[in-house]
Amino acid sequence: MLAHLMSLVWNALMSPMILFMGYAYESNCIMVLLSLFMTLALMLNLKSASLLLMDFYPSKATEFPPSPIDIDRTMVVTMGHGGPLLWHNYDALPPAIMLLNNGSTVVMRILCGPDCKPHLRGGPLCDNYYFVEASFKWGGSEHMISSRRFALEMQVLHAKNAPSPPFEYLTISYLFIVTQCKNKSMQQITENLAALVNAGSVIEVPPFDLCSLFWPFSHGYYSYSGTYDNGTTTLPTQWLICSSLFTISAQQVAQFGKLCNREGIHIAANSRDLVPVGHRQVLLN
Ligand SMILES: *[C@@H]1O[C@H](CO)[C@@H](O)[C@H](O)[C@H]1NC(C)=O
Ligand SMILES: *[C@@H]1O[C@H](CO)[C@@H](O)[C@H](O)[C@H]1NC(C)=O
Ligand SMILES: *[C@@H]1O[C@H](CO)[C@@H](O)[C@H](O)[C@H]1NC(C)=O
Repeated sequence: MLAHLMSLVWNALMSPMILFMGYAYESNCIMVLLSLFMTLALMLNLKSASLLLMDFYPSKATEFPPSPIDIDRTMVVTMGHGGPLLWHNYDALPPAIMLLNNGSTVVMRILCGPDCKPHLRGGPLCDNYYFVEASFKWGGSEHMISSRRFALEMQVLHAKNAPSPPFEYLTISYLFIVTQCKNKSMQQITENLAALVNAGSVIEVPPFDLCSLFWPFSHGYYSYSGTYDNGTTTLPTQWLICSSLFTISAQQVAQFGKLCNREGIHIAANSRDLVPVGHRQVLLN
């Protein structure tokens, strides 16, 4: 019915148009005016089409509220006692550990069989979240707590085996303050940084217990939804930020600052800019 009506309207409009086009070909002046008119119509059409598309597909920024944020402790909602977060296979020695300087940070990845992949479950998680990589932010942490910035942040990305709601990615964050004592576990990373000065360098380091680097906490973490930027994609992720602070020596932090980017310039700082929390709620589990 509708199609029939449309074709009627179309014919009614088109027949005088075809007649007019016939005359137009005779006169150059009318042709110029006509093509101007057509261009204008096309431009207006494109503009309204893009406006329409924007309504249907909201920009990424509204779909995935970004990170990092300043966690205002007075606004945090404390949750009742839920189940503990569970860490599996973090105590198994991975067959290989690799560190790489990708031009903006140090990324740590592991090689291991599917049966011994470190993963998280329990707590607020409805599924297993498998270890993907750990990366570091220095020259000031990305996340802040009640306006306090930390010296270093270690971020540990995890992903589900198959994407499904409520979230596909989960990132654990540890914040470090500077003290005079060396952090022995962190030494496993910092003592290898001298070999990673040039962007693009990759090294294999002697395997170590991941539990010693990623402290397995069960409660006492802030959570909110934000993003993790992996270099190619901005991944929407649930953040779990350990509320206990860790310590590192100034000398150890300084090792990170010796790394260079692709232009051969020292990476003095690599944290993203803070974004407003907006309507998001930060929970404390
Ligand atoms: C050193 O850092 C690790 C996290 O990488 C943490 O598990 C450990 O408790 C820290 N040590 C101190 C003394 O903060
Ligand atoms: C390096 O890797 C980190 C962690 O995945 C990512 O945030 C960053 O954007 C990457 N940098 C480049 C230059 O690819
Ligand atoms: C970033 O994540 C996407 C989606 O998981 C993946 O396809 C891509 O290879 C990742 N990039 C890096 C540099 O890890």
